[in-house]
Amino acid sequence: MPSTPPRPILRAMPRAPTLAILALTLLALPFVLHAAAFGLRGLSADLSGQTRFFTTPLPTVLIFGHMAAGALLTLLAPLQLLPATRRGGARLHRRLGYVILALAAVTGTFGLGYIGLRGTIGGPLMSAGFALYGVLLLVAAANAVYHALDRNLAAHRAWALRLAVLAVGSFLYRLHYWVWYAATGGAGSTPDFTGPFDLANFVGFYLPYLLLLELWLRRSTR
Ligand code: HEM
Repeated sequence: MPSTPPRPILRAMPRAPTLAILALTLLALPFVLHAAAFGLRGLSADLSGQTRFFTTPLPTVLIFGHMAAGALLTLLAPLQLLPATRRGGARLHRRLGYVILALAAVTGTFGLGYIGLRGTIGGPLMSAGFALYGVLLLVAAANAVYHALDRNLAAHRAWALRLAVLAVGSFLYRLHYWVWYAATGGAGSTPDFTGPFDLANFVGFYLPYLLLLELWLRRSTR
């Protein structure tokens, strides 16, 4: 009897990507709610004396504005990958796409503006890592929409996946700390963010994931 060839795992379990996206969204929800609430509070109330982020008007609007927009971006960018958004003429997918572009634009430019004005708590290396993150987010969002309008669906898909990885990056940054502190008690991490773990995490929350995605994209196009 001829043996059946092994089926690729995602074809064998067609709902696996959807379930993975929903699980990630649920996992990120507490951080999303924290960022949204903190952002909106900073934009609407006087938090001076309560947080170092509340200073003069411009950096204050930039940092809290990026938190509020970023919270929604973290939630929506992965959900946009769900096939359900593309049903019935993909109108929801298209509208959500423009909302996500606007959110990424606000999150990226406001974050970059804040870094330009105030820097970060960890100094130049952290500022550089976060600034590169902001630039990549803007590039990915612009390319995802550009290639959708250009009807280049392969390029659109690749940039949309890069955007989703970057959109959840801010959550992954915190997740790395939670897991690391739970596992090691915080080895290699200092309050002024100068430990080896802190330094690695300045880019470790997005670069390795982008690299894995690139490898996967190459394999799947072959
Ligand atoms: C993707 C969605 C994002 C969310 C939800 C988010 C959320 C937050 C939150 C809540 C904080 C306050 C610190 C905390 O409570 O942990 C923060 C800090 C910060 N974020 Fe974001 N962020 C996002 C993306 C970005 C991007 C793209 C940039 C860079 C352009 C950026 C730059 C910064 C900077 C510079 C700080 C202050 C770092 C410091 O000095 O402590 N964020 N973010």
